[in-house]
Amino acid sequence: MLKIGSLSLVQPTVLAPMAGLTDKALRLLMDEIGGCGMMVSEMIAAEGLRRRNRRTLEMIADFPARTPQFIQLFGAQPEALAEAAAMVSAETAFAGIDLNMGCPVPKVVRSGAGSGLLQDLPRLAAVVAAVRRSTPLPLTVKVRLGFNQVNVMETTKIIAAQGADAVAVHFRLRSEGYTGHAHWELAAAIKENLRIPLLGNGDIMTAVFAREKLQVTDGVLIGRGALANPFIFREIAGKPTLESDLGKYIRCLGALIEEHYPERKRLGKLKAFTRFLVLSRPGSRSWKRPIFLSQDFHEARSLLEATFPCM
Ligand SMILES: Cc1cc2nc3c(=O)[nH]c(=O)nc-3n(C[C@H](O)[C@H](O)[C@H](O)COP(=O)(O)O)c2cc1C
Repeated sequence: MLKIGSLSLVQPTVLAPMAGLTDKALRLLMDEIGGCGMMVSEMIAAEGLRRRNRRTLEMIADFPARTPQFIQLFGAQPEALAEAAAMVSAETAFAGIDLNMGCPVPKVVRSGAGSGLLQDLPRLAAVVAAVRRSTPLPLTVKVRLGFNQVNVMETTKIIAAQGADAVAVHFRLRSEGYTGHAHWELAAAIKENLRIPLLGNGDIMTAVFAREKLQVTDGVLIGRGALANPFIFREIAGKPTLESDLGKYIRCLGALIEEHYPERKRLGKLKAFTRFLVLSRPGSRSWKRPIFLSQDFHEARSLLEATFPCM
C-alpha cells in the first residue's frame, strides 16, 4: 500500500492537478466514480490565500469526500507558501499539500514560481523546508525533469532531504511544455536514487499503460487521461467500464456544471471537458463540431448527451 506521510492510499493512483479543470465540481464527480487513490486541486496562489483574496478562497472550498483531497499551492516566497500551508492545515479539510514546481507558464516562471524553482535550488530547498515546518499534513512536491536540462536527480534529493513525503515527476522538461513523449525511461533511475515514494506522470491514457508504469514507480498521476476516460482509475483497480457508464458521467457533468458555475462560464466549461473527452475517441469529428460551434450551454449539453445515450 502506498503511504504518503501518515496517509495510506487505497490505490496508488492520483488525479493530477489541472488548472481550471480539477476544481471542486470535477473532483466531486471523480470521487463519486471512485477508484482513485487521491486527488489534487487546481493550482492555488499562496499569496492569494495569505491575503484571503475572495476568489482564491472560493477556489479552496472543500467537501466531504471519500478520496483524500490535496491542495496544490504555487508561489516563489517560502514565507508565503508556509503561511498558506499553515492556513490550509488549520482551517480546511484538505488531507495534504502539494507544491507546484512544474508549471511552465511564462508569467508564473518569471515570478520565480512553478518550474522557475527548478532553476533556483537554494530557493527550492527553502520553500520545501519552510512548508514542512508549517504543517503536519502529508506533503508532496510536483516537479518536471528540469528546466532546460535534466536536474531531477538533484531536485528530488533536495525535496526528500527537506522533509517532503513523496515527489511527483512529470517526465518532461519545462522547455518541452506538453510536446513529444514523457521520458518514462528515466523513472527507474530516479526511483533508485530516492528514499521517499516516487509518483510518475505523463501521457497515461489507458489502464494497461498505467499498470505497466506502476512497475517502475510507487504510484502514478493521471491528468488528461482521466478527463478522456473518467473511469480510468476504476479500470486500473480492476473494474471494467460499461457502455452506459459514460452516458451517466456526461449527464452528471452537465448537472454539476449547471450547479457550480455562473451562467456565463457554463458553455466554456462544457467545451473544455468535451475537448478532452474526444481524445480517446476515434470518429469524434462528426459529433464534436456542432458542440464546439454551439453558442448555448443547453444546446451543447443536449448534443453531447445525445452522442452518449444513457442505456
Ligand atoms: C489544462 C491543464 C492544466 C494543468 N494545470 C496544472 C496545475 O495547475 N498544476 C500542475 O502541477 N500541473 C498542471 N498541469 C500538468 C498536469 O498535472 C500533468 O503534469 C500533465 O498534464 C502531464 O500528465 P498527463 O499526460 O497525465 O496529462 C496541467 C495540465 C493541463 C493539460
